[in-house]
Amino acid sequence: MARACVLRIGHRPERDQRVTTHVALTARALGADGMYLAANDPGIKKSVDSVVGRWGGEFFVENNVSWRRCITDWKVRGGTVAHLTMYGLRMTDVIDEVRDAGDLLVVVGAEKVPGDVFGLADYNISVTTQPHSEISSLALFLDHLFEGSELNREYPDALMRITPSARGKMRNGE
Ligand SMILES: C[S@@+](CC[C@H](N)C(=O)[O-])C[C@H]1O[C@@H](n2cnc3c(N)ncnc32)[C@H](O)[C@@H]1O
Repeated sequence: MARACVLRIGHRPERDQRVTTHVALTARALGADGMYLAANDPGIKKSVDSVVGRWGGEFFVENNVSWRRCITDWKVRGGTVAHLTMYGLRMTDVIDEVRDAGDLLVVVGAEKVPGDVFGLADYNISVTTQPHSEISSLALFLDHLFEGSELNREYPDALMRITPSARGKMRNGE
């Protein structure tokens, strides 16, 4: 399976910290390799790095990238760019083609996405054609991309692990 990374654009440090942190945690939990943050907010990286340190895996956050350079560099290296937007093509119509397109940069916005993103992306993809959020659209997109295989993956070097149980909370490593 090709790798997938997320590019988060439009982050406003004064109001989006919780949502952007959840974009990163969703990306990590659903099989992406890392998140590029097109804003300067070192606190996001610090809190996600702390989760990775305890819960394992190698998910990265790269702070303060230029969204335009991130997209163009990804394409120069032969990767494919998928921008999630309610205005795009239906996910169910393109997901098989996208899955076969190689390494994927998944772009999600916050409030208003610069118009150039639509032109630079190889695919503009809607997850339903209704407005919802970057977290829900990313989660559904990654799940369809990986066809559910990400749901039971293991995280190497985890200090914390949950033992699934019918009742109560079973967590090792505290
Ligand atoms: C709150 S929405 C922003 C909506 C805004 N009106 C715009 O310019 O698209 C934040 C992000 O959620 C994602 N999003 C929201 N609804 C979506 C949908 N139906 N399909 C795909 N992505 C969606 C997009 O990445 C969008 O940039």
